[in-house]
Amino acid sequence: MSTTFNTLEEKFLGQLPLVYFSEQQFAEALGKMSANATDPMLKSGLQKHLEETKQHATNLETVFFKLGRKPETEKCPICLGLVASGETAMKSAGTDALRDASIVGSSVLVEHYEMAAYKGLVAQAEALGMTEIAGILKGNLQQEEQTAQRLENAAPMMMQKAA
Ligand SMILES: [Fe+2]
Ligand SMILES: [Fe+2]
Repeated sequence: MSTTFNTLEEKFLGQLPLVYFSEQQFAEALGKMSANATDPMLKSGLQKHLEETKQHATNLETVFFKLGRKPETEKCPICLGLVASGETAMKSAGTDALRDASIVGSSVLVEHYEMAAYKGLVAQAEALGMTEIAGILKGNLQQEEQTAQRLENAAPMMMQKAA
C-alpha cells in the first residue's frame, strides 16, 4: 500500500479497513481454535469471544456508517501473520494438552495486537473530537482486554497440563 495520508483523519480512516478485515479473520480463527481445543473452559471461552468478535465487526460497521462510509476491508499483514503462525502452532502440537497450550499462546498474541490497535484508534478518534466513535471503539477494546486477562489467567494451568 502506497497511499499518502496528509491528515490524522485520513490516517484514521485508512486504518479502519485493516481492523475490520482483522476482526473477520479472527472470527474465523476463533472458530477453528474452539473446534480444536480440548479443555472445556478454553473451548467455551473461545466460543464466547467468537460471539464478541462478530459484534466487534458489527460495531466497526457502525463506525463506518457514522462516518458516512461503506464498510470496507483491506488485507492486514499483521493479522494474516498472527493467524498463520497460530495455525502452524496448532497443527504442530502432538498432544491435546500441547494444542491447548498453543491455542492459549496464539490467542494471547492476537488479543494484545487487537488491544494495541484499538488503543491507537481510540487515541486518534479522541484527538479528532470523534467522541461517540471513540466510545464504540473503547467497547471493543474492553472486551479484548478482558479476553486477554482470562487467557493469561488460564495459561499457567494449560502449561502445567502440557509439561
Ligand atoms: Fe476483536
Ligand atoms: Fe479479540
